[in-house]
Amino acid sequence: MKSRVGIIGMGYIGESHIEAIRRIGLCELCAIADTNYELAKEKAAIYGIEKVYASVDELLADSDIDAVHNCTPNFLHKQINEKIIRSGKHLFSEKPLTMNYAEAKELLELKKQYPQVEAAVNFNYRMNPMVQEIRARIKAGEAGDIRIITGYYNQDWLMYDTDYSWRLEPEVAGNSCCIADIGSHWMDIIQHVTGHKIVSVMGDAVTVIPVRKKPAKQQETFKDAVSEDYIEVQVKNEEYAAVMFKTDKGATGVFHVTEMAPGHGCDFSFEINGSSLSYGWNQEQNDRMWIGRRGGDNSVVIRNPNLLSDEAKAYSSLAMGHPEGWNDAFKGNIYAFYKYLAEEKKGDRVFSTLEDAAYVVKLTEKIIESSKLKKWINIEED
Ligand SMILES: NC(=O)c1ccc[n+]([C@@H]2O[C@H](COP(=O)([O-])OP(=O)(O)OC[C@H]3O[C@@H](n4cnc5c(N)ncnc54)[C@H](O)[C@@H]3O)[C@@H](O)[C@H]2O)c1
Repeated sequence: MKSRVGIIGMGYIGESHIEAIRRIGLCELCAIADTNYELAKEKAAIYGIEKVYASVDELLADSDIDAVHNCTPNFLHKQINEKIIRSGKHLFSEKPLTMNYAEAKELLELKKQYPQVEAAVNFNYRMNPMVQEIRARIKAGEAGDIRIITGYYNQDWLMYDTDYSWRLEPEVAGNSCCIADIGSHWMDIIQHVTGHKIVSVMGDAVTVIPVRKKPAKQQETFKDAVSEDYIEVQVKNEEYAAVMFKTDKGATGVFHVTEMAPGHGCDFSFEINGSSLSYGWNQEQNDRMWIGRRGGDNSVVIRNPNLLSDEAKAYSSLAMGHPEGWNDAFKGNIYAFYKYLAEEKKGDRVFSTLEDAAYVVKLTEKIIESSKLKKWINIEED
């Protein structure tokens, strides 16, 4: 059965959700909503969407819709996700799940009362076929014991003091900018791929530009526009972070994140060193993976669906030599969710569950805390 989908939030990422949903036969886009109604109508005209709403409540009242994507800024995730769950519609939320762990726990508790509702969080990089391939090979034991996990996620769209995002404001984003925004993807992917859980962290979170020029008018994320009309604001959240960590299965690791590294667009990279070999992946060359060996040739594997594991093949549509990229992994993640629903929840949850995403929120919070305290923090079970 096809799911009929509504999207709330028509900013930067809302548009990617429209395109991905339209590429999947298991679901159908039914309506969109944004409190900026003019913007929603503009997007509806571009994409030929019939139903456009100016509020969450109107969209949730639409009985045609059975699943809702929440693409609003972080401070609205808890409140809107809660409404979606209570409406009995399935939830597909943007990351991070919430602004803080207290909110995430409330959502987890609420969700228990609605077992018929399925929920996922959009850690979209998971469903790149080469990421799934590394995961399958690690699961099969090819890397040996995982010992060291390293990497980074660098972007540059916040490098000038005239660049601005709600992500810099604790009231809108939570107490973290780049760890919550892009470090969350990094932590999700390495936990997903290795099957390890990060259980101890030591962070160094730094605000690099203490005062920024905030534009007077709403600005879409990543738009390279300098506003003449601005107010100067103190930056409270971190714009760079380095994080050391330990996992529950004895691995150790380090990663760094920033949105202030000139020349980096979506430079998301990880390397996993096992007792037999290493695996590496970089989002900007995401159709390939690197294998490192001692005493043998290193190799770069270019995606070829005919040679991939079944797990990776499920998320690979094009033949070798036809590069699949960011949009394809994004589609793959949404496909994983609707496939799970179409199969009446009998398959694996390959997408991030609410529990997975709540744990990433907890890690983010503990990294910020450890940076303030200048000490390692163990992540306690609830
Ligand atoms: N998965 C990814 O790769 C990825 C990439 C970018 C952003 N995101 C996430 O997506 C979310 C949105 O980010 P963005 O960059 O698109 O932000 P954005 O500021 O470009 O867009 C947010 C939109 O939400 C709308 N909105 C605000 N309040 C609303 C309400 N009450 N009801 C309906 N609409 C409302 C705004 O008018 C705006 O159009 C964030 O949580 C962010 O972390 C994820």
